[in-house]
Amino acid sequence: MTAEMPLHAGDVNLADEDFFARGEAHALFRILRREAPVHWNPGGELLRGWWDITKYEDVLFVSRHPEIFSSERGIVMFEPVDENQRALASQGNGKMLITMDPPRHVRLRRLINKGFTPRAVAVWEPAIRKITGELLDGVAGKARADFVIDVASQLPLAVICEMMGLEKKDWPLMFQLTNKVLGAGDPEYQTDVPAAQRGTADAARVTNNLGTMQMFGFFAQVLQARRAEVRQDLVSVLVDSEMGGDRLSDEDILWFCFLLILAGNETTRNAISGGLLALSEHPEQKARLLADRALLPSAIEEILRWVSPVTHMARVANDDVEIRGQQVAKGERVVMWYPSVNRDEDVFPEPDRFDVGRSPNEHLAFGIGEHFCLGAGFARLELLVMFDELLRRFPDICLDGPVERLRSTFIGGIKHLPVAFAPN
Ligand code: HEM
Repeated sequence: MTAEMPLHAGDVNLADEDFFARGEAHALFRILRREAPVHWNPGGELLRGWWDITKYEDVLFVSRHPEIFSSERGIVMFEPVDENQRALASQGNGKMLITMDPPRHVRLRRLINKGFTPRAVAVWEPAIRKITGELLDGVAGKARADFVIDVASQLPLAVICEMMGLEKKDWPLMFQLTNKVLGAGDPEYQTDVPAAQRGTADAARVTNNLGTMQMFGFFAQVLQARRAEVRQDLVSVLVDSEMGGDRLSDEDILWFCFLLILAGNETTRNAISGGLLALSEHPEQKARLLADRALLPSAIEEILRWVSPVTHMARVANDDVEIRGQQVAKGERVVMWYPSVNRDEDVFPEPDRFDVGRSPNEHLAFGIGEHFCLGAGFARLELLVMFDELLRRFPDICLDGPVERLRSTFIGGIKHLPVAFAPN
């Protein structure tokens, strides 16, 4: 059933995944920015209420005050009313870098940071270019392809798997499990649930839980292997690390692996697919980029702003606090909507115009503050190399069928993007 497009803030419910699956969420964000930029959603029988934050300045405020707004108490909008479900949903809280508060967050980030400095990222350029070249060679003989499956998903998957030292035979499993965990609300990935039950909240929960368990099972074996023989990879760095004089526990390391594999492949995949979609829908901008390749770095930033692959991150208020005149009570959840702030009229002139030369472009696609994306350097480099090679080899690449979007309020995903490599 298709939900009707609301006309006023009171009717907007950003928990409705179907708006995201249909690519219509920007219309809702526009209403909220205009009428209720800090908007209380009361939740319902299943979910506790939360605040929607849709303006740039307010996301800066929330992100820059981790002492007021905790990540440790949950980073997604959903907080089940049911106690058992709440316990299950919050099992990763406080255990991953992304769900930690200072001072523990600062210590853990410092530990892993050396693998993500600009210098460490630059070392990967030749490998990223080689993987990209091989991927494009793989589709070169074809007239058409599913750009997501054949190209966009494969580069970030290969990079994060290589960083973690995973064997090539396991990469398809990582792709499959990432889809289950982050795409749990989409019937396409609910393959462990009987067909008749797909699309329900229960199906999403089962899919997410099974995907998570399988992921932990897999990484437990990897960890065992690294404890037996340390290698030159991220998992080995974690095995070899100490925090405050203590070695990281197995549980700490497993949660880190879980975070890295999810964050490393799903987000960049969608930036690549969403970028190609944006260029295809704005042929004059694609032509501009093809004519002036020096625009590539600003085009990548515009793609990140335009796509905003992570749709939201949440925080929980440690104290009563006021945001834009609204009283947020201690314990309440605030949800920062990145696609909305990246089109905030007060910050970006003509925000709904895709402009590969946009400058300045201080988008918040990677967040801001303490939790600013650790992998931003890798994501930017992967995007740069991919679009450089893609446009050089296939300047005529064009859409060849309808885009299929992910049913998710968390990841701005594209599941399938049919393309032809030359115009018909
Ligand atoms: C276009 C691609 C990407 C986007 C849009 C993106 C977005 C984000 C955002 C918005 C956050 C902030 C979370 C918050 O404030 O609560 C974040 C954090 C993080 N990202 Fe990314 N990310 C991308 C790629 C990557 C990659 C490739 C990796 C790993 C190689 C990665 C690893 C992480 C990690 C570990 C954190 C947690 C940092 C912390 O809590 O200190 N991300 N990302």
